[in-house]
Amino acid sequence: MMRIADRPFLVLAAGLALAALAGCERPPVEALQGGYRGTGMDEIINPRSDAKLSAKNVLPAAIPPAPTEGPLASAVYQNVQVLKDLNVAQFTRVMLAMTQWVAPPDQSCNYCHGANMASDDRYTKVVARRMIQMVRYINEDWKSHVGHTGVTCYTCHRGNAVPKNVWFIEPRRLANSGFAENNAGKNKPSVGDTSLPEDPFSYFLLRDASIRVQATSALPDGDRSSIKQTDNSYALMIHMSESLGVNCTYCHNSRSFGVWNSSTPMRSTAWYGIRMARALNNNYLVPLTATFPAHRLGIEGDVAKVNCATCHQGVFKPLYGESMAKDYPELTGEMHNAPPAPAAPPVGRLYFDADQSAKWAEGGESLDAVVAYLKDHADAKAGISGYNDPTGNRAHNLQLAKERAKAVRQALESDGISPERVKLEKPLDTTGSGDLKDARRVEVTVEQ
Ligand code: HEC
Ligand code: HEC
Ligand code: HEC
Ligand code: HEC
Repeated sequence: MMRIADRPFLVLAAGLALAALAGCERPPVEALQGGYRGTGMDEIINPRSDAKLSAKNVLPAAIPPAPTEGPLASAVYQNVQVLKDLNVAQFTRVMLAMTQWVAPPDQSCNYCHGANMASDDRYTKVVARRMIQMVRYINEDWKSHVGHTGVTCYTCHRGNAVPKNVWFIEPRRLANSGFAENNAGKNKPSVGDTSLPEDPFSYFLLRDASIRVQATSALPDGDRSSIKQTDNSYALMIHMSESLGVNCTYCHNSRSFGVWNSSTPMRSTAWYGIRMARALNNNYLVPLTATFPAHRLGIEGDVAKVNCATCHQGVFKPLYGESMAKDYPELTGEMHNAPPAPAAPPVGRLYFDADQSAKWAEGGESLDAVVAYLKDHADAKAGISGYNDPTGNRAHNLQLAKERAKAVRQALESDGISPERVKLEKPLDTTGSGDLKDARRVEVTVEQ
């Protein structure tokens, strides 16, 4: 029989149980099947928290495109080191966009510029210059992850000078529980309210430690993965799930986490994401450490770094996959990579006096460009067409045209072009343009 005095405990216990459940999602929730039928690879969707997230992921209106004509910014301003490929209008558009995306509203251009806009005296300008390069690098070199959706400064910054989700190296802390000297960053609430290590990022998004921990054979021996390593891998996985707002089965079939052929395509995208985040940290952020003022650095003196949440912010694709980059070709490398107008392939055009085939007359376009091109392009071949004027004996003229073509082949050979690379071709039009002098010619074209 329960005594009355026990009751308060029961009430308290029920209260605690309810409090613990508050962490769970209130029904109704919806499930979306992501894997094959029967694999239980479902995503649980809560329409209420999704609506909140959607509201946070509205894109700012794009600034109208800049005219493509006009002088280059680098010709007009004094200290343009990166945006050299943009004209003044495009350059100004980037300045306006960066102000909207990154600068605190009360500071505007002054956030990066003092009185002299050409000066690099503000660290924010120096950082921003490197960030422009980073954004172009992401959009050009990491299509394996960002596809054609791409990123802009807004993807990470969302109107804040410092992106909301960044990470620092956690200092090695002594355990306060007294069990072990070094608790490996564990046993305090961390990723996903677990007690897993709080900083898996140093291992995987800065260094290149192996994430794969599952044994691939029964009773493995040799260099096995430790529980500590496994803890780190799981901490990263929980971070990835949280950052994308998905559960493990978005990427894995939980029958076997390690096997790729029953994982979803999203797992491969994530694989590239891990490598990309690591490259951004090592190639862009870490080298900026000395540029940042001390108050921006972490306890270990390290710079703020990127993880999955920096871009994704709780959504499977940042900003629900809506592309801002497409509105900003200035930042996708499209402009600075725009191939220079393809140089017209060289042609040789040699004119002959009437009844002459041994040597050509002055004028015309010499063989030099063709020879240089053939020497640079080992696969290219030359085609020679001999034209003749329509007056006189037709058979004789055709013979003359052939002789002229052979003379030119000879000339190419003495310039070091082997005869196998030279084809004598029937001219498409034997009569040329109608001008007799113009008609007595040989044309040398280049074929890939
Ligand atoms: C987030 C930082 C940032 C903000 C905000 C910003 N700029 Fe800039 N600005 C830069 C960077 C970086 C460069 C150098 C770009 C390069 O080297 O290619 C630059 C260069 C310039 C230059 C060229 C100066 C010279 O002579 O070399 C002008 C002009 C300029 N900005 C105008 C503006 C204006 C106007 C605004 C406000 C609408 C603005 N910027 C806002 C970062 C910023
Ligand atoms: C992949 C994410 C990402 C993108 C994209 C990105 N940044 Fe950053 N940015 C960061 C991180 C991380 C920091 C370091 C945070 C800090 O300042 O401590 C940072 C810092 C900065 C700072 C210094 C902030 C301060 O007050 O200390 C400036 C300025 C800046 N970024 C400008 C830009 C501009 C301009 C762009 C677009 C051309 C851009 N960023 C794109 C991640 C990003
Ligand atoms: C967004 C995709 C994604 C999500 C979500 C995800 N993972 Fe992973 N997981 C990966 C990728 C990618 C790898 C392989 C990483 C590598 O090899 O660099 C991996 C590797 C693993 C491994 C190691 C497998 C091996 O071969 O040893 C385990 C275990 C694992 N994940 C468990 C989980 C768990 C548990 C969750 C949920 C908490 C989860 N993952 C969520 C993408 C994901
Ligand atoms: C620089 C910003 C950025 C960072 C950092 C980043 N992502 Fe992404 N990610 C994107 C963009 C943009 C897309 C959308 C690509 C598209 O539309 O094809 C994307 C797409 C994905 C997808 C595909 C989703 C789908 O439904 O197809 C996965 C999975 C993913 N990211 C996982 C990760 C993981 C895991 C990390 C951290 C290790 C990460 N991402 C870090 C920008 C980023």
